[in-house]
Amino acid sequence: MSKLPLVEGVLKYVREDNISFSMPGHKNGRGFFTTLKGKELMDNFINCDITEVDGVDNLHKAEGIIKESSELLSKFYGSEKSYFLVNGSTSGNLIMIFSSFNEGEKIIVDRNCHKSVFNGIIMRKLKPVYIKNIIDTEYNAPFSIDMEHFFKVIQENKDAKGIILTYPNYYGVCFDIEKVIKEAQKNNMKVLIDSAHGAHFGANDNLPKSAVKAKADMVVVSAHKTLASVTQTAFLHVNNKEDIDKVNFYFSVFSSTSPSYLFMCTMDYARYYLESYGEKDYDNLIYLADKYRKRIEKIDHINIISREYVRKNYDYDLDPTRYILNLDKGYNGNLLLDYLREKSIQCEMSDTFNLVLIFSLFNTEEEFQYLYNTLKECDIFKFKANSIELVNNYHIPKEQILPYEAMEKRKRRVRISEAVGCICGENVIPYPPGIPIIMMGEMIDKDIINMLEYYIENHINILGIDENKITILE
Ligand SMILES: Cc1ncc(COP(=O)(O)O)c(C=O)c1O
Repeated sequence: MSKLPLVEGVLKYVREDNISFSMPGHKNGRGFFTTLKGKELMDNFINCDITEVDGVDNLHKAEGIIKESSELLSKFYGSEKSYFLVNGSTSGNLIMIFSSFNEGEKIIVDRNCHKSVFNGIIMRKLKPVYIKNIIDTEYNAPFSIDMEHFFKVIQENKDAKGIILTYPNYYGVCFDIEKVIKEAQKNNMKVLIDSAHGAHFGANDNLPKSAVKAKADMVVVSAHKTLASVTQTAFLHVNNKEDIDKVNFYFSVFSSTSPSYLFMCTMDYARYYLESYGEKDYDNLIYLADKYRKRIEKIDHINIISREYVRKNYDYDLDPTRYILNLDKGYNGNLLLDYLREKSIQCEMSDTFNLVLIFSLFNTEEEFQYLYNTLKECDIFKFKANSIELVNNYHIPKEQILPYEAMEKRKRRVRISEAVGCICGENVIPYPPGIPIIMMGEMIDKDIINMLEYYIENHINILGIDENKITILE
């Protein structure tokens, strides 16, 4: 008899029966079983795994039920046209980039963009100019783009064809989207928004503003992250009629010719649920999250970053359907994440200082109560660790050659101390805060070396650095 390592591994995780404060948004299937239609879909789930037989339409030439469902999606979000993505927001970012920009064009990009955006920049041979991110030093967390720097970059790069921004970021922080869109449109720049974490925005007025309703040119959202839809599903929303022909083409380039009907059915269901129950259910979820936030904050050494703090200090917004659980300086968030998993609570992610917990309409009050009890009863001193401050006054190094050109060059690894004056050959990203310090094609200067050495001394995990060595171009 052979082995089934993957199946056994996943089933072992399922048997743990963890409370899900992470993706996917259906929360262990509960999102489907709360309605009769969802239950019927789940009861017949494997039988819904079909191909383009008569009567079920074709994603690449939608004329029937897929067209009807996409139109309902578009109407609900308020777009000109919306698409079902079976390859996640990853494919959505590639479609947006390829249909908006031509080879060699300059674009303005959030330095904290997802790797699919950076990969799109390489594949389309674009020239990126980056916008810095703010790091909040009170909580040691990345707080989205630096608005002052955004305006400066726009003024200095009027020849850029468009901007690509992450809204919200992983922590749920949302910059002022209307201000950004206004400024970009004044300068004839396209606005592409990676709203992977904001598929629920627009369903209730108490959530941050929807990038689709704010009229960004294109917006991609991951249905699976916060809605009742299975992993890998996402929506692409297009607001500008003129873009639709090109988007149709690149949509077919970056989508499988065998799109899963299981995926598509759950995307239809996610929209149906949001449209039918979203308004009322988000009131309840926001109420619950707020109620338990106030309780958890009373526990010594544990804080939750509040919407009021983000509004007051940055004039930004914060998604009220996730927690950034922040530990006092001297305590380690990664250790708390491991502890919570031992207690059957699955969080989304942690860094040295913070844990991110993602809620959806299918989390219950009992689960919030259990989280509160577990935190209250834990021995917080077990999570003590050395404290460090993240660097927030960093500069973006000078670009020497374009990222796609750097990709093609020969590379070697050298000790960090010997790399001053060399061109970087691999993106270098410390976690936290997860924002690149230097990217391929940029010049390594003394300040960058100092920053890397500081993070290494303080045991921060840095992608792209191994045994104190960095990749450079030959
Ligand atoms: C900001 C952001 N954009 C895009 C993606 C890619 O989304 P997907 O996993 O749906 O392909 C992610 C995934 O975590 C993300 O965090």
